[in-house]
Amino acid sequence: MNAGLIGVGKFAPSQVLTNTDLEQRLDTSDEWIRTMTGIEERRIADDSMDTSDMAYEAAVTAIEDAGIKPEEIGLIIVATVTPDQPFPTVSNILQNRLGAKNAASMDISAACAGFMYGVITAKQFVESGSYDYVLVVGVEKLSKITNWEDRNTAVLFGDGAGAAVIGKVSEGRGILSFELGSDGSGGKHLSQEGRYLQMNGREVFKFAVRQMGESAINVTEKAGLTTEDVDYLIPHQANIRIMEASRERLKLPKEKMSKTIHKYGNTSSASIPISLFDDLAEGKVKDDDVIVLVGFGAGLTWGALCIKWGR
Ligand code: ACO
Repeated sequence: MNAGLIGVGKFAPSQVLTNTDLEQRLDTSDEWIRTMTGIEERRIADDSMDTSDMAYEAAVTAIEDAGIKPEEIGLIIVATVTPDQPFPTVSNILQNRLGAKNAASMDISAACAGFMYGVITAKQFVESGSYDYVLVVGVEKLSKITNWEDRNTAVLFGDGAGAAVIGKVSEGRGILSFELGSDGSGGKHLSQEGRYLQMNGREVFKFAVRQMGESAINVTEKAGLTTEDVDYLIPHQANIRIMEASRERLKLPKEKMSKTIHKYGNTSSASIPISLFDDLAEGKVKDDDVIVLVGFGAGLTWGALCIKWGR
């Protein structure tokens, strides 16, 4: 039996920061941001809400959706590059707050590919029979490492959390294939040195366009399928132009690609589960659909999944 996603959750902070708001602070324009990135607004968590608080909100929803009790969770994996502090980890804090008293816990750091790394790790534990349920959360408070005076990066990012419970699903459904990768030689293009995130946007862009397309094709083929079998694509929401390039590689029409970047910006490890949650709520992903999830991020890192949706 395959492992699959049996419950999902999301949390988006209530404070909205629009492109127009950013025009007041920076030498930028709503038009530039929309055209170059597809972003219209993003959510920002205030001082009272740290990374673990957002993770908790998304996790509670995912656990409820899965119809399980926190005590049944064997492992909690939190993917984040913006933890509350280096240690204890966000997953430790979450384990305690959830009352998941039988759960081990660890954080994974793989930037925007973090949720992919988390789900694929969870799959191994579930399919080996080690744990019945693994909770995976992708969560970022990128606003705390954003230099609000740097227009090259300040317009791109947002805060939020997405979560999924991984468990066994019925025959034929679940995770059909995966791919994970990293190329540390690209570390200089996107890093945090000192307090703030720094990025060579053009280099990251080139890498992302190539890797997202390749990984999406690879997981489709590894699942024994062709692009014609793919019903829906959920790419990491980093830039609409990168997302469109991967959609074109899969030869999917526009409406078959998830797009939430206009509402949330780039929320790094949270972007794929947030999008999945919204797509399910809007009926865009249905039982037995073949969906491809693909992410890339600092490291450089990447990861993709092909899933036959449903429990
Ligand atoms: N407003 C107005 N002008 C701007 C802004 C802004 N916010 N930011 C940059 N510009 C200017 C630049 O200064 C430059 O001006 P110049 O030509 O006078 O020098 C011009 O716009 C073009 O800038 P480029 O950086 O060359 O433009 P590019 O086409 O590369 O687009 C962008 C920039 C949108 C950042 C793009 O490179 C991109 O999306 N890259 C990928 C970023 C990404 O995906 N990051 C996520 C990583 S995820 C993670 O792991 C955290």
